[in-house]
Amino acid sequence: MALKVAIVGMGGIGNVHGQCYMDDPLAEIVAVCDIIKERADKAAVAYGCPAFYSVKAMLKSGIEIDCASMCTAGVENGGGHYKPTMELLGAGIPVLGEKPVSNEIPKAKRMVALAKKKRLRYGINLNHRFTPAARRAKEWIDKGRLGHLHIINMTMWINNPNETSPHFHIRALHPHSIDVMRYFCGDVVKAQAFFLRGKTLEGKQRKCWSNLQANMLFKNGVVGHLTGSYDAGGGFGLERCEVTGSKGRFVLEDACEVLTFNNRVNTERETYTHLGGMTGFGETFPSRIHRWLEQNKAKAPPSKIDGSGLDALKVQMIIEACIKSWETGAVVNLDYKL
Ligand SMILES: NC(=O)c1ccc[n+]([C@@H]2O[C@H](COP(=O)([O-])OP(=O)(O)OC[C@H]3O[C@@H](n4cnc5c(N)ncnc54)[C@H](O)[C@@H]3O)[C@@H](O)[C@H]2O)c1
Repeated sequence: MALKVAIVGMGGIGNVHGQCYMDDPLAEIVAVCDIIKERADKAAVAYGCPAFYSVKAMLKSGIEIDCASMCTAGVENGGGHYKPTMELLGAGIPVLGEKPVSNEIPKAKRMVALAKKKRLRYGINLNHRFTPAARRAKEWIDKGRLGHLHIINMTMWINNPNETSPHFHIRALHPHSIDVMRYFCGDVVKAQAFFLRGKTLEGKQRKCWSNLQANMLFKNGVVGHLTGSYDAGGGFGLERCEVTGSKGRFVLEDACEVLTFNNRVNTERETYTHLGGMTGFGETFPSRIHRWLEQNKAKAPPSKIDGSGLDALKVQMIIEACIKSWETGAVVNLDYKL
């Protein structure tokens, strides 16, 4: 039987989740919710379910919900998730949140802690690594094909003129890049970063820290680097991840598009394009959401959720360490105390 799914926040991304659930046989949308009545009503018609204008009213209705998507936004695209997520978790409903889990660490900690206390599955849509190509690359690492891991270089950049806060760029975009880095190389123990305010195409000075270069030391000794920008464009591509080890290296371009393996001792190159038939970034949404549904259907233990709330919290802690490094000029240690 399909899982009964509710969606909270029916903006652009809530409707992307909606389409993913409509197309997935593991899901049946039973409720949509938005504080903007027209958005909730429009989605209710599109998905053939009742509309609600608050989470409280949705819960009070007694409608049966197996799991919910949280697609609110707010300050730095994460400030709106806390209250409705706490309401859903408080009512015993597993939540798939959007990224960033929150733009404020104390709130992210409280959501993760409540999910843990209530033994609920809590995932975040860290969709960039839910691709067949990333899974193949991870298998290579796990089977020792790269040998002992040495270096990870990650680049993620888009054109985004948003100037709503000084650190919108790292807090809103880099949950994705840093999650990919953690997926391949594990926990980060130290971070250091430099930021730069770029110029627009028209030569106007930007207000937000729209470019960054960060160094990271991983628990397993890997040395990592992240390049990020909101002053990029389609011609630059979206992302590139390179991991090297004592025996080989891979380069993963644009999340799912081109995966290349190079052996250290010869010049042969093994290249896969569009592994698993995934052709572009848009397809990472149904892939990630399907995994969430699969894990809920299988009643996976909350600690085993791929792309969990805890993963997303650790990513935000690394982001805050980068910001602190820039503000203090220091290398910042991470301790992950909850
Ligand atoms: N995973 C990705 O690749 C990806 C890509 C883009 C955006 N996002 C994330 O998706 C989220 C949503 O982005 P968006 O562009 O759709 O935002 P949006 O502002 O267009 O939509 C958010 C909606 O939530 C509603 N809302 C706010 N508070 C609410 C509440 N308490 N109860 C019910 N509804 C509420 C708003 O009225 C609005 O309609 C953001 O967190 C953003 O960072 C993720």
